[in-house]
Amino acid sequence: MPLTLSQPGLLRSANFIAGEWRAATGRTLDVTDPATGGLIARVPDSGADEARAAVDAAHVAFADWRKVPAKQRAQIIKRWNDLVMTHQDDLGKLVSREQGKPLAEGKGEIAYAASYIEWFAEEATRANGDLIPAPVPGRRMFALKEPVGVVAAITPWNFPAAMIARKIAPALAAGCTVVCKPAEDTPLTSLALVALAEQAGVPPGVLNIVTASRERTPEVVDVWLDDPRVRKITFTGSTPVGKHLARRSADTLKKLSLELGGNAPFIVFEDADLDAAVEGLMAAKFRNGGQTCVCPNRVFVHTSVHDLFAEKLGTRVARLKVGPATDPASQIGPMINARAVEKIERHVRDAVERGARVVTGGKRLAALGPNYFAPTVLVNADATMACACEETFGPVAPITRFDSEDDVITQANDTPFGLAAYFYSQDVRRIWRVADALESGIVGINEGALAAEAAPFGGVKESGYGREGSVHGLDDYLHTKYVCQGGLD
Ligand code: SIN
Repeated sequence: MPLTLSQPGLLRSANFIAGEWRAATGRTLDVTDPATGGLIARVPDSGADEARAAVDAAHVAFADWRKVPAKQRAQIIKRWNDLVMTHQDDLGKLVSREQGKPLAEGKGEIAYAASYIEWFAEEATRANGDLIPAPVPGRRMFALKEPVGVVAAITPWNFPAAMIARKIAPALAAGCTVVCKPAEDTPLTSLALVALAEQAGVPPGVLNIVTASRERTPEVVDVWLDDPRVRKITFTGSTPVGKHLARRSADTLKKLSLELGGNAPFIVFEDADLDAAVEGLMAAKFRNGGQTCVCPNRVFVHTSVHDLFAEKLGTRVARLKVGPATDPASQIGPMINARAVEKIERHVRDAVERGARVVTGGKRLAALGPNYFAPTVLVNADATMACACEETFGPVAPITRFDSEDDVITQANDTPFGLAAYFYSQDVRRIWRVADALESGIVGINEGALAAEAAPFGGVKESGYGREGSVHGLDDYLHTKYVCQGGLD
């Protein structure tokens, strides 16, 4: 089915550098529909030259943008938010088509993205510093907040709108300028968002975006890592890549925000409301087909309620409608690409070989297209299985039994990751004990849908550092400068 937008101008296929749309001068990158493999558009497959041009533009623009009064920056960002919501339908279609999530989820992601843009438009005017009581007479002492400078944003494919919004909006609000490299699978939504930012009045050079294939991405990113004018890297993606960025940016000591992999536990205690727990797991696990960093990767259920929970969950999961984003009835779309499906398949095969049983799903849905996998529930999962150690990033819920609170806390924390954790219980003492004991940046108690613009999003341990959203999200783009004036006595 052809992609038809009511504003065809939102379908961009060029880089945006120094306020100009620059078409590919050499190689191009095919953007394909994960449901069919069909071509949607071709964008530049950029390299070092484009990356350098983007930094040059951002560096020049920084001198003026940092001086624009915060209120004026806020107004521009607010206009951007309004334009994003005006074009929610078109942007939702773009997200769905290039990423594969059902249309309703695609439109929902646009509203989610806009909520961050609006939030940071408001936060722009609140980058307050401090007036510090001086310990000696005749001095005034201040802690002032300043933008860090040029920010490089490297964004993932699973939320092509929301992840860019919650990196770029705070950067612009703080007075930083940006160079951005969107994920190779989903550049079109990002380009459309940048087109709307331009329309909203973001000045030339303040926001620059270059697209590149998986193969050429290192060339682009290496330029940014090596350039001392880039003062911050913000990245959402895998832990190995996050570690690489941390190592490689050490020579220029850039500030880093790293939102990395997760291995979220979802714990159902014996005192939980089981129906609520099933619904919470459905929301947390199957959103975006399980392709989220915060989605539960390991499900632990107390042995006394295990069989009932597994049966209820299996029934609910078997009813999920899988299909392309273009079918309004679809609840789960295709996975992003062939590599993603191969990994899911490997995890299920490994689990079954090690003794897990498939309650529902467990296989590809090849009749629908190349990248579909059936929503799956497994029982008898254990810590030896690949699905317990690696992020599956797909619609698979492996259930493990547990006998005691201490035991399940130990198992839940037995991972290098610490992004999100969930549990269901109705015992208020247990609730606070467990929330304190879980090693995780985000904890959901009797709730499966946690993300919100007003909340700090980020991990601990090898899930990274830095926070996105909330009052803390702006701080990641600011330095504190101590200014002391003497001789006032
Ligand atoms: C992610 O998967 O990285 C983001 C998920 C969210 O914002 O809820």
